[in-house]
Amino acid sequence: MIKKEDLEIKMQSFDLTMTPPAEEPQRQYYYIAKAKKLVQELETRLGRKPTFCVTTFGCQMNARDSEKLSGILEEIGYVDNGSDEKSDFVIYNTCTVRDNANQRVYGRLGALSNYKKKNPQMRIALCGCMMQEETVIAKLKKSYRFVDLIFGTHNIFKFAELVCDMLESEDMIVDIWESTDKIVEDLPIVRKYPFKSGINIMFGCNNFCSYCIVPYVRGRERSRSPEDIIREIEMLVADGVVEIMLLGQNVNSYGKNLDNPISFAQLLQKIEQIEGLERIRFMTSHPKDLSDELIEVMRDSKKICRHLHLPLQSGSTRILEQMNRRYTKEQYLELALKIRREIPDISLTTDIIVGFPGETDADVDDTIDVIRKVGYDNAFTFIYSKRTGTPAAAMENQVPEDVVKRNFNRVLETVQEVSKNRTVVYTGQEVEVLVEEINEHDDSLVTGRMSNNTMVHFKGDASLVGTLQRVYLEECHGFYYTGRSI
Ligand code: SAH
Ligand code: SF4
Ligand code: F3S
Repeated sequence: MIKKEDLEIKMQSFDLTMTPPAEEPQRQYYYIAKAKKLVQELETRLGRKPTFCVTTFGCQMNARDSEKLSGILEEIGYVDNGSDEKSDFVIYNTCTVRDNANQRVYGRLGALSNYKKKNPQMRIALCGCMMQEETVIAKLKKSYRFVDLIFGTHNIFKFAELVCDMLESEDMIVDIWESTDKIVEDLPIVRKYPFKSGINIMFGCNNFCSYCIVPYVRGRERSRSPEDIIREIEMLVADGVVEIMLLGQNVNSYGKNLDNPISFAQLLQKIEQIEGLERIRFMTSHPKDLSDELIEVMRDSKKICRHLHLPLQSGSTRILEQMNRRYTKEQYLELALKIRREIPDISLTTDIIVGFPGETDADVDDTIDVIRKVGYDNAFTFIYSKRTGTPAAAMENQVPEDVVKRNFNRVLETVQEVSKNRTVVYTGQEVEVLVEEINEHDDSLVTGRMSNNTMVHFKGDASLVGTLQRVYLEECHGFYYTGRSI
């Protein structure tokens, strides 16, 4: 990330008749300056400011990437109008973790092709994880010729350069990199919320869980340097951010491959020192790498939120082995119960997959047993989705749909029952809430989150957004509370 003033200074030095610099991020500063000129010309032709809309599919990492795309677009002169059909430039930042994510993109593209017919100067770009799949690119090239620009996860940093190419060409531009070892720092970013922000601490994944496509589309694990991370957080805090979410596919293996290795727990301790920062969250923790050091640091911290997302995937040791998760049911239970013992007010949430190849009713009973024993505060339950190229896709014993549905419902019912009983225990307590927005349904209320991530609604106005408030929790309504300010 870079401050607006600093970027302006850097760009003033560019003579656009020169060849672009080879090194990054200077090269992108050159293209931002060039894109600004092209967008100005577009504005003159249109007689108004051109508009854009970025739609994000998938996880927090994609959401952060979308903020990078918006940062560039606003810098070069586009205006965000929040509606894809009415925009001059539409960007879909895609996800491919499960097939339904892909189907939604194709559906939206179908609708978009009609808008483009009516408005031929509309430009459409696709990026993100789905674009790293060869079969997807082949399909787009064949049947979606109206798409103008396609790029992937590894070269998102050169978005300004790609936009220049797109604005100067009538052809479909496809630029996909197979991998990268590069992390390009110091590019502009806009935030969706003024008071909270995600921060990448690492990219990629080395775990190769047998069902998962992420390592193939996001590449190998790369950690950012602690200095770059701290500098970014300090800049965010100076700009009004009070809560950060550290992002990585497996934050517990952060820093292992840096020239000067550092553990995730040590990174958290450094971040804790940043004055003005109030809350630290992180996502996601792989159980196999969660250290005692991390539990201690969380326990003793004043800023790390009382929430840990600890994906279980399955409670059956046999299935876990097939999934290549590298822990057993017993190891997971021991870890979760140790965390509950050390940090009693922590909220534990998880991800569960139902219908992995070869899964029997008895395996699902094991999953249900873990849900009950851990007592999750919340769990995301997914039906297994076959991803081309992953080892699980080649497994022979895929589970019939009706069996999966039945087991999925069993798991879901258990999760709902267990989490309801957990959430309710805070009734009558006073807690700190970070106010996030005016309530969607009743504008006399504001909505915020407790440290443990539970939502709370209470009387208040816009002046409270972005502040921490003491709230008395009056009533629990399943997943959220209503309360009053004290
Ligand atoms: N790195 C994170 C997960 C990222 S993907 C972790 O390991 O915890 C988010 C969730 O999607 C996973 O936890 C898993 O539950 C689910 N998921 C991944 N691949 C899937 C597939 N092929 N089918 C169904 N769910 C899947
Ligand atoms: Fe996928 Fe496993 Fe990596 Fe998570 S840890 S992103 S589930 S391969
Ligand atoms: Fe989806 Fe990519 Fe995230 S596949 S879940 S957007 S890393």
